[in-house]
Amino acid sequence: MAKAVDKHLIAIVDGNPRHREQVSAALLSNYSFATFGDVTNALMGLSIAPPALILVGEQVPPSRGISFIKTLRAERALTQTPVIFISDNGAPDVLRAALEAGANDCLFKPYRRSTLVRAISVQLNARIEGQWRMLPASVRDALEGTLTVFNSIADIADSGAPIQYLAIAESCSPLVDAVQANGPRVLFDAVKEHDNATFTHSFRVAALLALFGGAIGLPRSQQLLLATGGLLHDVGKLSVGYALLNKRDALTAEEWELVRGHVTASVAFLRSCTDVPRGIVAMAAQHHERLDGSGYPAGLEGSQLNELARMAAIADIFANMTEAQVYRDAATAEAAFKTMAEEMSQQLDLKLLQRFREGVLDRLLRPETQVVASVDSPNRA
Ligand SMILES: [Fe+2]
Ligand SMILES: [Fe+2]
Repeated sequence: MAKAVDKHLIAIVDGNPRHREQVSAALLSNYSFATFGDVTNALMGLSIAPPALILVGEQVPPSRGISFIKTLRAERALTQTPVIFISDNGAPDVLRAALEAGANDCLFKPYRRSTLVRAISVQLNARIEGQWRMLPASVRDALEGTLTVFNSIADIADSGAPIQYLAIAESCSPLVDAVQANGPRVLFDAVKEHDNATFTHSFRVAALLALFGGAIGLPRSQQLLLATGGLLHDVGKLSVGYALLNKRDALTAEEWELVRGHVTASVAFLRSCTDVPRGIVAMAAQHHERLDGSGYPAGLEGSQLNELARMAAIADIFANMTEAQVYRDAATAEAAFKTMAEEMSQQLDLKLLQRFREGVLDRLLRPETQVVASVDSPNRA
């Protein structure tokens, strides 16, 4: 019987060890990897653990990458697996030969990190992103604009260049309008099966916060600030590995420290730019802090917690609980809220939580709401 494909496993087959490392680093938070430096190891490894996609470099000893692609296409279990060929120089005849050999797409060096992530996403999310084209223009703009900007953040992080805050806020503008006009359900359904989990989570937090802002009577400019803060609140997760973010078993103390480190990484990243508003930094810095002092990283309590960050904490916990994780199923919206109201009443701002219930949860629970498996479990990160 054919082995099941691991939807988040990318195979990198390349004789160039430096390029294997670069690709692994570029995909760190999005995927797990299997790397192979030659044909024999690759064929054995790919048959043992079939990946979702295979990246093939120019040289795969003892032969060339293009010959390896032909070999792959002759393997029954791998004929349908998407293949992206990465050329050293982009010579047109080489790219053409790769496509003829069976590659689905080609990149050539040097390429941006976002270009690689995008090329993989096109192959793996073709069905989901294709469905976005059927949605109303405002919803489509909200999805495509934020995804493009989110992927480009990785380039900025790599190059050390300051973050373009205004461009990110601009990408959230259609999101604010779309969530107010259409409600959150259509947006949440659209990203539900997208494989970029950090984007999906950040997008959902952004949409929840825009609604939350409207529910407490904030003007559109503040709703936009909240949405942008939502999209950026976990940006430091780009430096945490996929395997750690998605570990099935309980984390060790050291692993917890690494996961918690996403907050410090987010703040450092946002502070490297002068035009990021302080409220955005506060949301990233304090969304895991809790009113009773039990949160992290600083153990702040009570009045030390910024109002925007209190809202971000509520939206973040709610989003997290209602998302499926490898270590637990998604909770229903009602179950997540019940856990927050009953078990986290010392940790969260109850007045704000009540407004969240009236302005956000009630909107999510309108009749079209789908019921998903319910398991109460507090969020891990
Ligand atoms: Fe976080
Ligand atoms: Fe988060």
